[in-house]
Amino acid sequence: MTDPQLVLAERVQQALGAAFGEEYAGADPLIRPSQFADYQANVALSLAKRLRRAPREVAQAIADALGSGEMFAKVEVSGPGFINITLDDRWIAEQAGQVLTDPRAGVGFTTPPRTVVIDYSAPNAAKEMHVGHLRTTIVGDSLARLSAHLGNRVIRQNHLGDWGTPFGMLIEYLLDSGEATSLARLENGEGNEFYQEARSKFDGDDDFKERARRRVATLQAGDSETLRLWHLFMDATVRYFNKIYSILGVTLTDDDIAGESIYNPLLAETCDDLEQAGVAVMSEGALCVFPPGFTGSDDKPLPLIIRKSDGGYGYATTDMAAIRYRVRDLKADRILYVVGNEQSLHFQMVFAAARHAGWLPEDVSAEHIVIGMMLGSDGRRFRTRSGQSIKLIDLLNEAVDRADAAIADRGYDDATRAEIARAVGIGAVKYADLSVSHDSEYILDFDRMLSFTGNTGPYMQYATARIRSIFRKAELDPASFTSAPPPLSLGTPAERALALQLLEFPTVLETAAAAAEPHRLCAYLYETASTFTTFYESCPILKPGTDPQTRASRLALSALTLTTLQTGLTLLGVPIPARM
Ligand code: ARG
Repeated sequence: MTDPQLVLAERVQQALGAAFGEEYAGADPLIRPSQFADYQANVALSLAKRLRRAPREVAQAIADALGSGEMFAKVEVSGPGFINITLDDRWIAEQAGQVLTDPRAGVGFTTPPRTVVIDYSAPNAAKEMHVGHLRTTIVGDSLARLSAHLGNRVIRQNHLGDWGTPFGMLIEYLLDSGEATSLARLENGEGNEFYQEARSKFDGDDDFKERARRRVATLQAGDSETLRLWHLFMDATVRYFNKIYSILGVTLTDDDIAGESIYNPLLAETCDDLEQAGVAVMSEGALCVFPPGFTGSDDKPLPLIIRKSDGGYGYATTDMAAIRYRVRDLKADRILYVVGNEQSLHFQMVFAAARHAGWLPEDVSAEHIVIGMMLGSDGRRFRTRSGQSIKLIDLLNEAVDRADAAIADRGYDDATRAEIARAVGIGAVKYADLSVSHDSEYILDFDRMLSFTGNTGPYMQYATARIRSIFRKAELDPASFTSAPPPLSLGTPAERALALQLLEFPTVLETAAAAAEPHRLCAYLYETASTFTTFYESCPILKPGTDPQTRASRLALSALTLTTLQTGLTLLGVPIPARM
């Protein structure tokens, strides 16, 4: 363990045990970065009551038990009972040296590993894949990467909207327009238009409407020809989704598809089990769960309808079946639902109903990772000028085109330029989604997301390119500093600050994963890049006359910064162009 916050937490807990007895060793040491020292431990304030002693006295006892030792330059009690801790420079240098040689850069593995089920992306085949799905895809994918990197068993679940009444109409329309033509259109991303055409035919043509209705019935009855057509429809649609996934560079594969349709055979049983357990009751002809604590505006209990009065099942039924499957069969310890904020009530009710039914035990957490809406520059739901909802692919292409224009005058050959434009454009879109808290609404602004300054994708990519260019100039491989790192010397405040910042990477990853908040990682990486800039501007590296030891130490710090930024960006899923 090299992260000062983690090491300190352990040391303070040992001190608590030594000073007050083992029963205190488990208390949260409350370590925070501090303005007055490197860190502050605030545990004395929280323990004073329990110990019936003055907080300052408690703080002093902890400080005494911490001792001096090689880790600390200064341990001081201040204010009402804060413990201010300044680390020893040599200790910081030594930890940084260790991190350099560690292929995991100081990041540990969660033990025992937890099984984390992540439900994300989940576009609807019968409707459009809209910009909202872009954000759940990008945020969910980063959470999956992060969780897996920390040693958890990650199970991705792409809960596609691939079932339900619209498919009767869609299959009939597919037959009317010709199989081959329809499939080509779907694969080409025209699913939305296809749906709208089918819809207007449904509304204007009674004969078609009747056929669509019958088709729903044959689909539900499992008729083999109807299922064949449904499969064709879905396969073509998934091929289009896969195109978007591949442009985005997300880790979702066909193996992760677990659409609504897979729960279809379980829905009757789901309802029966809930009814027999007394969790679901009949109300106005529908089978409902009334999870405790949910009331409508009229103060009446709110129902989660799991079987409609016409006998049909709905979105909530599927989610009840899905949550049971995820806990019982997938053995989830944690389930993340990365879905838009408009579904908050739905998920709160599903979670409460599942707890009530005993399908979601106390030690399994289910969390709705709320995704805020993406807005247009007018502050309204994102649309094109003509009021249409924008196609995802157009949005991505526009980002790449704009990135391409921004680097036009840099003298790259065509192939290199195209590659950089792709990485910068897609990276900009992804980073913009990730760098604000996932539940906030945000305005899609190409100029801002593509800016080469500030907390943006292009700036972060540029920060890595700049460090690589230092090594190119020095004709050195940054990897040579990890196999045999030189002794680090932290002679200036900028070097010390950079080393300390780099050592905090593991804590940041853990907090970001625990809170399911990728924007914390973005903020850290941005801060790291800024700390590096200060270092770079005040500490000459390759300047002739720099003594060899200092030069080697500074190159090593640069190499560690590079690894940290690259690992961080990879966990966010942001591509890193080789040059910029
Ligand atoms: N397909 C849904 C939509 O686009 C999202 C599904 C989210 N996951 C779930 N288990 N309900 O709104």
